[in-house]
Amino acid sequence: TGMITYDPGFVNTGSCSSSVTFIDGEKGILRYRGYDVDDLAENCEFIEVAYLLINGSLPTREEKAKYTNLLNQHSLIHEDMIEFFRHYPEHSHPMAVLSAMAVSLSSFYPEMSENHKEELSMTVTRLLSKLRTIAAFSYKKSIGEPIVYPRHDLRYCENFLNMMFNSPVCDMPYNDTMTESLNKLLIIHADHEQNCSASVVRGVGSAGANLYAAISGGICALWGPLHGGANQHVIEMLENIMEEGGNIDKVLERAKSKRSPFRLMGFGHRVYKSYDPRAKIAKALCKEVMASLNKHDPLLDLAMELEEKALADPYFQERGLYPNVDFYTGLTYREMGIPTNMFTVMFAIGRLPGWIAQFMEMRKDPHGRISRPRQIYTGPSVRKVVPIDQR
Ligand code: CMC
Repeated sequence: TGMITYDPGFVNTGSCSSSVTFIDGEKGILRYRGYDVDDLAENCEFIEVAYLLINGSLPTREEKAKYTNLLNQHSLIHEDMIEFFRHYPEHSHPMAVLSAMAVSLSSFYPEMSENHKEELSMTVTRLLSKLRTIAAFSYKKSIGEPIVYPRHDLRYCENFLNMMFNSPVCDMPYNDTMTESLNKLLIIHADHEQNCSASVVRGVGSAGANLYAAISGGICALWGPLHGGANQHVIEMLENIMEEGGNIDKVLERAKSKRSPFRLMGFGHRVYKSYDPRAKIAKALCKEVMASLNKHDPLLDLAMELEEKALADPYFQERGLYPNVDFYTGLTYREMGIPTNMFTVMFAIGRLPGWIAQFMEMRKDPHGRISRPRQIYTGPSVRKVVPIDQR
């Protein structure tokens, strides 16, 4: 079979070629289809960025209107699926519900033929619109409130916030800054080349499985604390530090110690060895949302102090460990009233267009083959089965 390159964690292996996202980890640059993420976050709506990632160019006014219409038409989920929510135990993690619901869409809205272009684009539209609805419904169910259906007159982010927070006792539970910030947060999460979940999406899709199945797999990968789950763990870490009296030095010592498996959550990145450009945006958003709500969260002060101390510490400097996207996003969601266990769901809604764009790119790739790495075998050489009573 020839020589096998051993590369655990695929640190140095290019698994595909891609024209979707460019990252320069040394300079802290992130571009989708050639546009800087800051530029897109400043000047676009999330659905324009989704359109850009999936179709390759930003939509014209007409294209955007058509796309908005299409997403509106598909924003409901089959009423029978709403039954599912009722039967999850009360403390179910919303990521488990989200991934199960994503793959369940394949039973309610099956693709008749895998390769039919229009059918795939219908699946894409359904996923983009329905995943947001599923996320909001699962939250409403988890707090025992009646679900709020999507509305055609609201834009993507407003619609989501309305489904999340509207209730019989409160009908304007969000402000413009929150909508704007959510829009930016979703944009900065929209793609990140061959990260763990995107690689899973490609891996599932490479075997020929449908897009719903691939996205469900991506959601499961994202759930992990080393990946998208970090945003939830950052807040839990900050809360723990606060409860234990705010001793930052102790936490840094633990993170640095090789005897402890503990890592500073929201710090470090496989590709960025400088400040994550998304973290800069998230930090600013966090302050804006707080100011708009006239709130002051001592956890933000703690986070900033932790960042400052870590960045001044040779351990973090030598290893190029900076705050990543997850460090400040959770604080922003928290100010908006989104519960901690929903943070990674927010990441999934944002990342969805990137997963889809890469799945579609893979399907079109003439060099595309089933994802099937090799291994270095380290088990025993040949053995013979000993009858059970002689073992
Ligand atoms: N705290 C303490 N030490 C760290 C950390 C951290 N957060 N991250 C990396 N290191 C150390 C690591 O111990 C290693 O040290 P040494 O060279 O002495 O053995 C060195 O830095 C290199 O780390 P690595 O584990 O080889 O890096 P990796 O590329 O395999 O892992 C990572 C990247 C993001 C999984 C890792 O930095 C980490 O666990 N960070 C904390 C979890 C986190 O915030 N994840 C979110 C990632 S960003 C977006 C997303 O995917 O959600």
